[in-house]
Amino acid sequence: MSDTPTDYKGPQRVLSGMQPTGRLHLGNYLGALKNWVALQEDPTRECFYFIVDMHAITMPHDPATLPDTVRSAAAAYIAAGVDPEKSTIFAQSAVPAHAELAWIFNCVARLGWLERMTQFKDKAGKDKERASVGLFTYPVLQAADILVYKATEVPVGEDQKQHLELCRDIAARFNRDYGKGEAIFPITEPVIQGPGARIMSLRDGTSKMSKSDVSDNSRINLEDDADMIARKIKKAKTDPEPLPATVEELEGRAEASNLVGIYAALTNQTKAEVLGEFGGQGFGAFKPALADVAVEYLAPISDEYRRLISDKAEIDRILAKGAERARAVAQPVVAETKKIVGFWG
Ligand code: TRP
Repeated sequence: MSDTPTDYKGPQRVLSGMQPTGRLHLGNYLGALKNWVALQEDPTRECFYFIVDMHAITMPHDPATLPDTVRSAAAAYIAAGVDPEKSTIFAQSAVPAHAELAWIFNCVARLGWLERMTQFKDKAGKDKERASVGLFTYPVLQAADILVYKATEVPVGEDQKQHLELCRDIAARFNRDYGKGEAIFPITEPVIQGPGARIMSLRDGTSKMSKSDVSDNSRINLEDDADMIARKIKKAKTDPEPLPATVEELEGRAEASNLVGIYAALTNQTKAEVLGEFGGQGFGAFKPALADVAVEYLAPISDEYRRLISDKAEIDRILAKGAERARAVAQPVVAETKKIVGFWG
């Protein structure tokens, strides 16, 4: 069903969001934000980047700190180069249209579709009877996030592919059931980052760099200073072999491959180019070079982040303006949808 052709003719809109939990790390930058920034530079696309605080409460959370974690994420977006003049930056909960559309989509999505979602199974753990109902319908809210702007492209990591598939199924089903031959919603394209941008843990090259990893040495955080970055890279897990000359020979060497991938992403090169320079050298030579480029890349971002985070009023002003712009786009879509399903004004 998700391959239903669409005659959708609306504008090109890009949308993506992140959870406000924890601090952002190098994986978020190279895997997502860098791409968001690149997309906003295309004048034919309108970009919407938001912080998913409504999704954040699907799991236990602290109401006292949630607003500051939203500010912190917004500051990180901006520090990474998302420009509030070019892109619309806002908190999800400031735009009620997301929740309104989510209810309608709860009645479009089928129980069977949601039961297949692997993220729910992972997050709910063994005792799924105790998971919130919100955690179960999380992907439906995500579909509403996307379609309330009629977003045509959503840059996300590989782990969100299944949720994007569900969003396409909901759009197609809605169009079929209510569209009278017209595509009300676009069939959104996921823009999946290539494996090169998939940044793995510094302690285990087979698991993703993550803010929830118990070991802080597994990731490079935005707040880490130059010494800390160098120390973490020095401690990063490797193997005893020198770096190979070709990408094929990185096969089966997850940690080596990850470090080469990070270097490549930081310097805008391919892994092959990095190996062209470092092939044959040991990690004793490669790690300090990697630490240097990581520090150089992150320093301006973390300086800007610190400046912004100390100015709450500035962040709040940006978020308020973003929310206003977002509401102006989302409200008419909800109004149109409500009318289509037969609701009161
Ligand atoms: N589920 C996404 C994640 O965990 C966050 C998210 C919520 C999102 N709504 C979205 C991403 C809409 C893209 C589009 O990363």
